[in-house]
Amino acid sequence: MSGIKWRAEFEIGIPDVDHEHRELVDWINQALLASADATQDRDVVLDLLGEIHTKVSAHFALEERVMRERGYDQLREHKQDHELLLDDIRDIMDEYEAGSDSVEERFSERISEWFGLHFRTHDARFHRHLPGSH
Ligand SMILES: [Fe+2]
Ligand SMILES: [Fe+2]
Repeated sequence: MSGIKWRAEFEIGIPDVDHEHRELVDWINQALLASADATQDRDVVLDLLGEIHTKVSAHFALEERVMRERGYDQLREHKQDHELLLDDIRDIMDEYEAGSDSVEERFSERISEWFGLHFRTHDARFHRHLPGSH
């Protein structure tokens, strides 16, 4: 299983944030691995995808709360990008429910691109502009 491969370019250079992102990606990979094992049971796979969605939303909600509390100037743009990813995960779930396979392939293709870009742009800017937000 390939899952989301951690790449050096995911790192934004703030150790705590990089650590947190690495944990998030590791966790997604574990859930994807479990879903690959459970392909005979589509409900289990859907549950795992639902858990990924929940965990990723929780990470985003935390960031958005800090941005709101501290009056961050790009909250709207940042939140929009979070929503794009959550919509993508929803789409993957819908496609899977409608009968498609290769959940993991879709994640590695679509989701890893998103992480690479989001970490380097939105998250890097956010954490640099708000010292102590990590
Ligand atoms: Fe983040
Ligand atoms: Fe973010």
